Amino acid sequence: NVKVILDCDPGHDDAISIILAASKVSTLQIEAITTVAGNVEVEKNTLNALKVCDIIGLEDVPVAQGADRPIIKEKEIAEEIHGESGLDGPKLPENPTKIIIEQHAVDLIIEKVLESEGDITLVPTGPLTNIAMAMIREPKIIPKIKEIVLMGGGTFGNWTPAAEFNIYVDAEAAKVVFESGAPITMFGLDVTHQALATETVVNELSTIDNKVAHFVVELLQFFNKTYKEHFGFEAGPVHDVCTVAYLIDPTIFEMKHVHVDIETKGEHTYGMTCVDVLGVTGKEPNVQFATNLDGNKFWDLMKKALESYS
Ligand code: BDR
Ligand code: CA
Repeated sequence: NVKVILDCDPGHDDAISIILAASKVSTLQIEAITTVAGNVEVEKNTLNALKVCDIIGLEDVPVAQGADRPIIKEKEIAEEIHGESGLDGPKLPENPTKIIIEQHAVDLIIEKVLESEGDITLVPTGPLTNIAMAMIREPKIIPKIKEIVLMGGGTFGNWTPAAEFNIYVDAEAAKVVFESGAPITMFGLDVTHQALATETVVNELSTIDNKVAHFVVELLQFFNKTYKEHFGFEAGPVHDVCTVAYLIDPTIFEMKHVHVDIETKGEHTYGMTCVDVLGVTGKEPNVQFATNLDGNKFWDLMKKALESYS
């Protein structure tokens, strides 16, 4: 079993990642869920994480709240994609029964990694603020992190022409993480835009008759609607889910070992991930970069995961 900490900002696709990771087809052991400011304010993201845990009956996993803003920049939220609550669409439980632990997410990450035998994988699907802060506060965690499997960046942007949302929100944090030396596996827009919840996919998932599957279908319907309104897409890409799908079944993806630098100074390119696809910098590769996915395998896994709920 792969031990993971899901560091997220739920968020429709973050929520679906938690659901996949906690399903019976998953080979992951969720050590903790930590939240960060991103899609909406951290308090809302935390509440959403707790609600998702309630819906899927994830009782034993600690949820800790993290950074409420990027390290240097002002806050930036994505309400136009995820709605006011950060998880608009489905009817959510008003007051979740699960509560957060008192420890700050950054402290929890440090504690878990230091106590581990070097077998914890971090799975950030929001801005990288918590991970960078943990690395700065306690650099001893860096050699103990097994892998960082993250959603962010790409060779094009969705928040600016150059930058993807998670990296753009806190590029300084991303720079710390990408330059840390910890092994990084990156799911950027190049691959996540292949994980499309098309009408066929949503119809197929709609045939699964349990509470969690219904919840996911409602999430996808809302997400697809905002992706159509905002980007003119026919279907929404479930970006974050690629991270968890990869950890369960890496054969779904094609990867390339490349060097990636984070742009923090550019007038038009702040938050860009400079992916050296052709190796022109001659720099040592620091990232396993996902280039392609097998859509049938991906959605088949998701379907089996949802069927495993009762
Ligand atoms: C990323 O931004 C958020 O809106 C999604 O949850 C995903 O993590 C995609 O750019
Ligand atoms: Ca996210």
